[in-house]
Parts: sequence; C-alpha cells; structure tokens
Amino acid sequence: MTKKKYKNWNIERDEDDIAWLHLDVPKSSANTLNEQVIKELDAIVKDLMSDTPTGVIILSDKESGFIAGADINEFTTFESEQAALENIQYAHSIFNNIENLSCPTLALIHGFCLGGGMELALACRYRIAEEDSSRLGLPEVKLGIHPGFGGTIRSIERMGSFAALDLMLTGRTLKARQAQKAGLINYSVPKRHLIKAAKQTVLTPPKVPGLPWWESIINFSFIRPLIAKILIKKVSARAVRSQYPAPYAIINLWVKYLSNRKRMLEEEAKSIAHLLVGETAQNLIRVFKLTDQLKGLAKDKSVSINHIHVIGGGVMGGDIAIWCALQGYNVTLQDQRHETLAGVIERAVKLYKRILKQKRLVNSALDRLIPDFNGNGLVTADVVIEAVFEDAGVKCSLYKEIEPKLKRTAIIATNTSSIPLEQLTGALKKPDRLVGLHFFNPVAKMPLVEIVVGEKTSKKAQQIAVTLTKKIRKLPLPVTSTPGFLVNRILMPYLTEAVTLFEEGVPVTVIDKIAKNFGMPMGPIELADTVGLDICLHVAENLAESMPIDVSEHLRRLVDEKNLGKKTGQGFYKFKKGKLVKPAIKTNYTAEADIEDRLILRLINEAMACLRESVADSKDLVDAGIIFGTGFAPFRGGPLQYVKERGQEQVLMALVKLEELHGPRFKPDDGWKTIVIE
Ligand code: NAI
Repeated sequence: MTKKKYKNWNIERDEDDIAWLHLDVPKSSANTLNEQVIKELDAIVKDLMSDTPTGVIILSDKESGFIAGADINEFTTFESEQAALENIQYAHSIFNNIENLSCPTLALIHGFCLGGGMELALACRYRIAEEDSSRLGLPEVKLGIHPGFGGTIRSIERMGSFAALDLMLTGRTLKARQAQKAGLINYSVPKRHLIKAAKQTVLTPPKVPGLPWWESIINFSFIRPLIAKILIKKVSARAVRSQYPAPYAIINLWVKYLSNRKRMLEEEAKSIAHLLVGETAQNLIRVFKLTDQLKGLAKDKSVSINHIHVIGGGVMGGDIAIWCALQGYNVTLQDQRHETLAGVIERAVKLYKRILKQKRLVNSALDRLIPDFNGNGLVTADVVIEAVFEDAGVKCSLYKEIEPKLKRTAIIATNTSSIPLEQLTGALKKPDRLVGLHFFNPVAKMPLVEIVVGEKTSKKAQQIAVTLTKKIRKLPLPVTSTPGFLVNRILMPYLTEAVTLFEEGVPVTVIDKIAKNFGMPMGPIELADTVGLDICLHVAENLAESMPIDVSEHLRRLVDEKNLGKKTGQGFYKFKKGKLVKPAIKTNYTAEADIEDRLILRLINEAMACLRESVADSKDLVDAGIIFGTGFAPFRGGPLQYVKERGQEQVLMALVKLEELHGPRFKPDDGWKTIVIE
C-alpha cells in the first residue's frame, strides 16, 4: 500500500490499486470544500489522471459525515462577480476531470452530504450511502443560490428532471433509502458493509442505470417551457422573484440549456456567480451564520438535564412539554385541571403521529410525556418550566409553594411574555435560579426562544436555559428583563401602526399586502388575528406603560365582543373553517406612498432603541431575534442590516419626515445619533 498526505486529504493506494481519497479538514468538526481542499483536490486528480488506478473512492474521516458543502465563509469574500465566476470555473474544471477519469469513481457517504459535497459525489460514477446516518441534498436555494459545481445538470442526469428540480427548488434533504429510490445514489447500505460494497463496486463496476423513457420527452425543447410555466407558478406562491431570484434561476437554466450539457455547465457557473454577490444571497448567508452564532451560545459542556417539569398545560405549557418530550427529554406536566392534561396528550398523539410516523417512535415519545396532576415530578426535575396564567400574583404564590420541593440545583424557567423577572424573584428563597425561557406561539414552528436574564439570574441558570434550548433544537437568544424583552417590544409598534392605518381607513388587505411586498411572511393584521387579539391587547397594554404605543379603541372593542381573531372566526378579518376570507377592495382605492415606511420604520426605530439599551448584545443578535422571532424578511438580513443597506442617514431622514407628518411616535431614538450601523 502506498500513502500520500496532504493537509486535508490522505491518499492511500491499496493492494488492488484502488485509490482511497480520505478527506479530513483539520481543526473542524465537519468537512467543507474550502479553497485549500479544492486546490489539493485539483493536484490529487491530476496525479490520478497521469497514473490512473483501478478505481477511486472518495470518503470522509469525520464522524459528522461526508462533506457539509462549500465553505460558506468564503461566499462573502468575493470582490466581484468576475472573481466569483473564476472560482466557480476552477471548481468546475476539477469536477469535470473527476467525471472524465477512465476508471470507476465512487463517493462513499455517511452523515451529511450536502451542497458542494453532494455535487462532488454526483461527479463520481457511483454513490453509496450508509443507510441510517446519511442526509443528502442540494439545499443551496436556502442561501439564495443554486448548485454551482455542475450539480444542476448532474442531478438531473441521475434523477430525472422532476425529482432533481424538486430537490433543488425545495432544498430538502433525503435519507439514504429515499435518495436511492429517487436515483440520487446507487445503493443504501448498512454501516458494516460500506467498505466491502464500495470496493466491490469499483472492482466489478455495474452498469449505470439510465432514466425512464419518458424523461426524454421532457428533453424536447418545446415541452420544457410549458412545464416551466407551471413550476414558476408554484415557486411564485412561495417566493417573489425580485426578493428570491435563485429558484427562478434554476428553472431558467433547465428550460434554456438542458439540451446542451456544455452550455448548461457554463451558464450554471455564470448564474451562481451573479447570485452569490447579490444582496439576497449575502443576507441569507448572514442569516445562516446568525443561526450558528445563536447555537454557539451553548458553551457549557458541564450542563446536564435529565428531567423537565412543566407547570401549566395551556396553549404554551402543553406545547412546550410536547416539544421537549419529542426531542428526547423525560417530561412531567402539571396542571390544576385533569381535563387540560388529557387534552395535551391528545395534541401530542396528533403531532407525534405526523412527525414520527412509526408507531414504535410515537409510543416511546408518549412514554416520555407524563401527566402529573400532583406535581410529583418537582422533586427530581432539573428544570421547572412555568407557564401558568400571565399574572404576577399567581406566579409568585406558585413559586412559594414549589420551591421547598425542588432540588438545590434546579432552575425555574418562566415563559412569561411580559412580566419583568424582578417582579417575581421576591417570592423565591434562591432568586438566582429564576430565568425567563420565552417560547413563541406555535412552539413547534417558531425557532426562537428568548433567554430572559434578570438582575439576579445566575450564570449557571442562564447556561442551563441556553443549553436546554439548543438541545431541543431551538435557537437561544439572551435578552435583558425589560418590558416586552426584545421581540415583542420591536414587533408591537409595527402591529399598532397597522391598526392605526386601519382606523384611518386603509383596508386591511392593503396594509397586509404592503408588508408582504416588503418581504414579511404574513401581514401585520393577519398576524394579530392569528396570534389572538386578546393576547395582542394584553401585550400592547403592558408595553404602553413604558413605550409610546397607542392601544386602539377598535382593538379593545373587538376583544370585548369576543372577536379574538382566527380562534373565534372573527377579528379584523373573518375566518371560515380556520381560513381567512379576504374582503374585496374598492377598485379605485389608491394607497398612500408612505405606508410601507410607517410600518417598517416603527419596527426599525424600536430595534435601534433595543440596540442602544443593549437588550440583546449586538446588532447581529437584534437582527437574529427579529428574523427568527417574527419571520422578518430573511432576504433583507434583519432590520438593522436593512438600515445599513438603505443608508442610515436616509432612514433617519425618513423617520424625521414621518414624525412631522404623523406625530411623535416616529421620533427617532437617541441611538441614531450615537450608533453607527456597520
Ligand atoms: P393558558 O391560559 O392557555 O394556560 C395556563 C394554564 O396554566 C392553564 O391550563 C391553567 O389551568 C394552568 N394553571 C394556572 N395556574 C396553575 C397552577 N397554580 N398550577 C397548575 N396549573 C396552573 O395560558 P398560555 O397562553 O399558555 O400562557 C401561559 C404563559 O405563557 C403566560 O405567562 C403567557 O404570557 C406566556 N406566553 C403565552 C403566549 C401565547 O401566545 N399564548 C406566547 C408566549 C408566552
């Protein structure tokens, strides 16, 4: 056996003259295709071209998987579109060389095989994946780009147009068996057989299966535009072209160049270079990095959580308990009403069946969720999550009752949405054990959890809360214990401005459409109806004590009349069987030009105030909170990033103008004078 070592690659040539290309990027838990890895691969492949082995097997020495993708940090360093293009073309030339090697080539996959990693695997003649751990896909669209190392054409050649387009347009990942069925890999194999299967495949190479006959019909250039129309219609329901150009670029490449392989590769390179330097991709890459930043906050490895006890099985407590048990924790759930506990179990059965599908998994998740009317779980819990009524008196008397039963090290995490922790700590003998764990509704869908840190909260309690949040696959964001914390405080001026616009006679559909055109996932009026107008009123009234928020009389009236939005069938909108009924707009209605600014700049002004007051630690964390807590247009990179892109001076001038026209609620925060958004 001969061996050759590079910084990132170890090459072994075994007794059968098979070259094994082991990738192991140093000082990193996952392999990525960074610049150095690519350069070394170039040299390795050139060696293989001049001294061709019997076969080539590419594999990873990392436990985490094969290759997680290209190196995302390098995506933000290109000085120009031309520089990006040259980089992409270089990678293309290497992948083409791999494809053209005269011996059989194989990617031996375990764990993550995504993006550029998947494209490298696609450049090989065969792909074998470990059946349990493998997750394969081309998720580039989520970063505002598309496959750029030949993956657009190669995925189509292996899987057929529909399956490959679906993979690229949705960015979803497949498990090994699904990938085999879809044609993305050749074999899904148990771990113990991987090496043997790979060796056998290159030594006695099987015929590469072709695509079904009907795939060639799609190849006709007059058929593709017809299918493209349907695809574009589907895509445009989810993503506006000007905001998210990548899926449209994928369809464009397919429809225009599928019949000419060489041209499609060239155009793929040009298209991704163009997207890469665009604002959308740069902002989505930023959002991706923010996710990592939030996950990275859970640093304390000594935190161990075995048992969670939740008190209050209502909308939030019930869903929090269900979610924690789904993520593998033993959870006891206490409520003062037996019926409430029974209702939570019913909800859990529904969710677990939908997510876990297999009966065995559903049953074991249900085994972990234990109704506990008498609160027996309190004595063994490491974390007590309190989600009883939003009333400081109720919470305080509960704390007095439960604290003597708790383990010395147990923390109490309150899900309060508005009560400062300082109003609650007085009830505790050990006030440093109280921390806020503010989940958002609906728990299963919302990725963010605010970690509310009070004056007395201990570092340990904070770390336990952060670690738990990460372990249950949510994003932790530490915030100060000030009214509304971060997300509700920033969201509320935007929602109340929407209601003010409604009271001025702007139709609800117009308000919501303007917000959606800006890139919000849902308009503010529909959002208020969906959250529940009683909850909105409650938060607005609380915040009005410390902020210039006008609590709308119309909102109060709706709540008094029990028209609470979606849950009662009537709010600002009417709902039929849970579906919003859109009222018609007068055809001659023209909206004022400053509505978008009125909505968005109130939110942004409050984000600036939060930055100035250090409610969250940095500009990045304020942006992360608003994106993951409210869905704020991810392609804009967050409210403060928007300020940077529009120009701080411009935004300030717009606020001043709004203040003149509409009153003091638009008064620019002091932060505009002292903080420079970079
Ligand atoms: P809810 O009214 O649906 O549920 C509260 C539950 O607590 C009820 O089932 C009640 O029986 C139980 N409970 C009350 N006192 C109890 C006691 N002493 N012992 C045992 N059980 C008791 O309320 P929801 O909406 O779930 O809110 C709970 C907390 O979560 C509140 O602090 C609220 O501000 C916060 N929150 C609510 C959100 C929402 O959208 N509903 C969002 C984020 C936070």
